[in-house]
Amino acid sequence: MQIRTAVEDDHDGIKAVLDAAFDQPDESRIVERLRNDDADSLELVADHHGDIAGMVMFSPASAHLDDGTLLRGLGLGPVAVKPDHQNRGIGSALIEAGLEHFLPYPVAFFCVLGAPDYYAHFGFTPAIERGWRWFADDGSIPEMAQAFQIRLPRPLPAGHGIVRYHPAFEL
Ligand SMILES: CC(C)(COP(=O)(O)OP(=O)(O)OC[C@H]1O[C@@H](n2cnc3c(N)ncnc32)[C@H](O)[C@@H]1OP(=O)(O)O)[C@@H](O)C(=O)NCCC(=O)NCCS
Repeated sequence: MQIRTAVEDDHDGIKAVLDAAFDQPDESRIVERLRNDDADSLELVADHHGDIAGMVMFSPASAHLDDGTLLRGLGLGPVAVKPDHQNRGIGSALIEAGLEHFLPYPVAFFCVLGAPDYYAHFGFTPAIERGWRWFADDGSIPEMAQAFQIRLPRPLPAGHGIVRYHPAFEL
């Protein structure tokens, strides 16, 4: 299994992974829109003897803090592994390789929407614990607040924040 940057020839394989993993086409549409908008900051694939077994995308996100600061970060997602390849560490390898790729860059935060038990492995914590919200979360669905998580590569001053993903996520 090789984790590498995606190239155009991988796009059909990536779509197949996304559609199978999510059982619906929304995520592959989001990925296409991110690519079309040049908002695919990093797209990695897990290449299993020429077959695409998994993918992860990182795209620009911003956080507006209540003191007026604007922070530039990255949204992690979608991440997907073909159902028959899941639970073998491929998702973890993709996420870790992506986070490692950005180590030299001044990324203020990473954000993700997903299962807290899974993303805790990679240093994510519920954003709500810092007073950060995802802009579409009005606080009415407590599970949503727990599912929206952030990871800060470097310490940041305290303060409430509203995070926005790239508009490609607004299907
Ligand atoms: C989530 C996903 C990418 C993980 O990839 P993977 O290669 O199967 O994961 P790994 O093998 O690296 O990790 C497996 C571990 O994650 C856990 N895990 C997987 N999905 C999980 C979930 N939704 N919630 C909590 N834990 C989860 C497994 O129980 C396992 O835990 P263990 O190591 O303690 O046994 C994959 O299951 C997938 O494609 N799911 C469907 C799409 C999806 O929900 N993507 C995430 C939202 S963008």
